[in-house]
Amino acid sequence: MERIVSGIKPTGDIHLGNYFGAMKQFVELQNNYESYIFIADYHALNQINNPQVLQKNILEIAKAYLAVGLDPQMVVLFRQSDIPFHTELCWIFNSLTPIGLLKRAHAYKDAESKNESVNVGLFDYPVLMAADILIYDADVVPVGSDQKQHLEITQEISRIFNNTYGETFRLPKELISIESSIVKGTDGRKMSKSYNNVIGLFDSKEVLTKKIMSIVTDSKGPNEVKDPDTCNVFYFHNLISNDTSSLKQRYLNGTISYKEAKELLIEKMDQFISPIRMRKEKLDQNEKIVLDILNKGKSKALPLAEKKISEVRNKIGITLNF
Ligand code: ADP
Ligand code: TRP
Repeated sequence: MERIVSGIKPTGDIHLGNYFGAMKQFVELQNNYESYIFIADYHALNQINNPQVLQKNILEIAKAYLAVGLDPQMVVLFRQSDIPFHTELCWIFNSLTPIGLLKRAHAYKDAESKNESVNVGLFDYPVLMAADILIYDADVVPVGSDQKQHLEITQEISRIFNNTYGETFRLPKELISIESSIVKGTDGRKMSKSYNNVIGLFDSKEVLTKKIMSIVTDSKGPNEVKDPDTCNVFYFHNLISNDTSSLKQRYLNGTISYKEAKELLIEKMDQFISPIRMRKEKLDQNEKIVLDILNKGKSKALPLAEKKISEVRNKIGITLNF
């Protein structure tokens, strides 16, 4: 069985972009791959400096993984920070990674161009990510399309290490599903916490109603012909249902108002989200289960990472074999 490795940062509210971009694939792949799925908590540090918020976010991601259907019997579910060898390997990779490679990274270039102050953690982010992946000899890394460049940097770091010290790491392949390309938010831009345009994976019906009713449409009246392809309300129908052909017909025939399309969407979205929300609420009542699952994951991931880091320490000459 091939092995997948992937993670999500605990940086705040989890939304449909995270679900369709990343989590859904983890669930679909769990039966066909040996899966290592983690919470990239050290990666969140350059965005979150409030300890209470970070703790809360870490638990939320763990619950989200379980609520969307990851089976802890099939998947090794763990926290990055529970396996200290990720950060050790990151340091080793730091000493081999050309600064130029990281200067080309989109996240760094964006922050620089906005004149934001860039900390070393943001700059070094792709190297820690390479360590996350390479330490488990991942074959495949399912991610959203915005992570493509990070995967290329991972492959480059793997090559550089292998050229320097001999064959040690694999060249993991990215897996980006078509669906995961970019999920749009309620305003039509990329769904992202930073744009305040997200539909949260645990949103209540009340919140969904507010968000969906405020989606901007054009001003066509109830009986006018409408274009489903440019309508943001239709976009969300399409995102969460398999068959939207009859709705599409009503758009094209001019037999549906935007108001009705939104009301239908509220119902459908609530049906889509409520099982996830209910499973999450159950876990809220029993956080011990969640912590136990993470601890079990830790005990499975640790020996694997430890074996790899010993191999690496040997290769680089840090281990004294006398
Ligand atoms: P945000 O942009 O809200 O801060 P993150 O950067 O924390 O989200 O993303 C976490 C994961 O979810 C990543 O794997 C990313 O590829 C995926 N993701 C986030 N937003 C989207 C989106 N709008 N469409 C597709 N995938 C997304
Ligand atoms: N960089 C990823 C994101 O922003 C999260 C991440 C950290 C990750 N380490 C990883 C994803 C390793 C896949 C593999 O969402």
